[in-house]
Amino acid sequence: MEWNFVIYSSTILLPILMFILYTRKPNNKRLPPGPPGLPLFGNIFQLGTSPHKTIAELKHKYGPIVWLKMGSVNTMVILSADIANEFFKNHDLSFIDRRVFDANRSKNYYKGSLALAPYGVYWRVMRRICTVEMFVNKRINETVSIRRKCVDNMLLWIEEEANSMQGRSNGIQVAQYIFLASFNMIGNLMLSRDLVDPESKEGSDFFNIMKRMMELGGQPNISDLLPRLRWFDLQGIRRKMDRDLGKALDIATTFMKERIEEHKAGKQKRKDFLDVLLEFEGSKNEPAKLSELEINIFTMEMFLAGSETSSTTIEWAMAELLRNPETMMKVRNEISSVVGSNMKFEESDIDKLSYLQAVIKETLRLHPPVPFLVPRRAIQDTNFMGYLIPKYTQVFVNVWAIGRDKEYWEEPLVFKPERFLGSKIDYKGQHFEFIPFGAGRRICPGLPLGQRMMHFMLGSLLHKFDWEPAFSTNPNYTIDMTDVIGSVMRKREPLKVVPIKRLV
Ligand code: HEM
Repeated sequence: MEWNFVIYSSTILLPILMFILYTRKPNNKRLPPGPPGLPLFGNIFQLGTSPHKTIAELKHKYGPIVWLKMGSVNTMVILSADIANEFFKNHDLSFIDRRVFDANRSKNYYKGSLALAPYGVYWRVMRRICTVEMFVNKRINETVSIRRKCVDNMLLWIEEEANSMQGRSNGIQVAQYIFLASFNMIGNLMLSRDLVDPESKEGSDFFNIMKRMMELGGQPNISDLLPRLRWFDLQGIRRKMDRDLGKALDIATTFMKERIEEHKAGKQKRKDFLDVLLEFEGSKNEPAKLSELEINIFTMEMFLAGSETSSTTIEWAMAELLRNPETMMKVRNEISSVVGSNMKFEESDIDKLSYLQAVIKETLRLHPPVPFLVPRRAIQDTNFMGYLIPKYTQVFVNVWAIGRDKEYWEEPLVFKPERFLGSKIDYKGQHFEFIPFGAGRRICPGLPLGQRMMHFMLGSLLHKFDWEPAFSTNPNYTIDMTDVIGSVMRKREPLKVVPIKRLV
């Protein structure tokens, strides 16, 4: 009788118990609020093609901390400056790791990457190299002539293109030229090479592969949403990455070997960033030397992290200026009065150009190239503002939404650089309503270089040419300001403009 009871009750109760156990979310009550999602897929189908906007809207219903499931991945989103302040000031360490995406596992990329490195010895060593050896003002000042050469080339290419298109009004895609110049700047700083050089096959192969890798890295990948399916690589992203990264690593190895041979032959040129990496010697508890893989991947990362972020920001700035002729006039007048019409725009002019600086800030406020920052990951279960956030939760800080929050910004959607004049707000990670470079321990280490590049390139373009939007003769033409998220947040329609050389 007793056995019968046990058997009967377990056949009825066990499935009910299993159902409860499997459907109940752990610690559900203490997770932040968020929209209900589908089993397995979570909220991914609700995010649409502009997730930064869709997620920003959730603040009205759920408040400034939102819980989402991206497939099976726990995700916390931060949507206000106050919460970002609390996150970076008091919980930076608990969320210090990064999420490694499937494409980054190719060829063990993540093992040499600074941006993806877990908080530990390797991350500290590479950060120190960045902040002490590479991106300090002294080092950046020593390499002014490199950036001068790259900007001169960019202006020349644009001038040649402008001369050859006389009478045509469909314009040039200006971002392409800026991207090439940014890429060459980083190439010269890292490797003392013009990589975008028709005479260097290796250089142009490297450039094309890196461009493809940026595109691949920006594609949403099912393997990241449903990590159990990672093995199948359903979109073939990992396969393509293996192919491209393999080639890029081969080329980078050639560059490195050439350099070692040059050292042996005593052909010492200016010390560049590759030399810094090759000469690294760790102190106690650190690796004695960096491995070949680590040096090559770190080198590549500088291109991936630094070129498109800078070039897309300048494209947005030009688009905003063309839509706001008064602002365009103001910034150009400032440049003319400081630089003079016969002189070249120099990096040393930047400090005197407060309106140009405000234009760059206003552009980064409205169009941050990395709208969710680089996702952080919880290293342990963490009590965050009363919620229990499980270990491995990924965190998106929606800086796009924070930069447009009407609680902090007057007329938030209007492009108005004046708001930064006489204001102390900057992007160095202390003012949480404006953090396009991130904040806390993992703030962008390339910030000093990135800001120099952006001001120098935009200032030079505005000083050298008058600009008109292409097709501006069509009275119905407007500049499309729709954005899309790929490897960075860029304009959906590339900006097409007509450069007109200024008469001096
Ligand atoms: C407009 C220019 C740039 C923007 C907007 C930008 C933005 C960012 C952001 C948002 C992060 C993540 C910060 C965080 O997690 O809090 C980051 C990280 C990083 N950036 Fe930049 N960046 C720019 C230029 C550069 C340049 C020029 C370089 C180097 C050549 C660079 C190298 C890096 C690296 C290595 C990291 C990872 C740092 C770490 O994880 O510790 N960035 N950047």
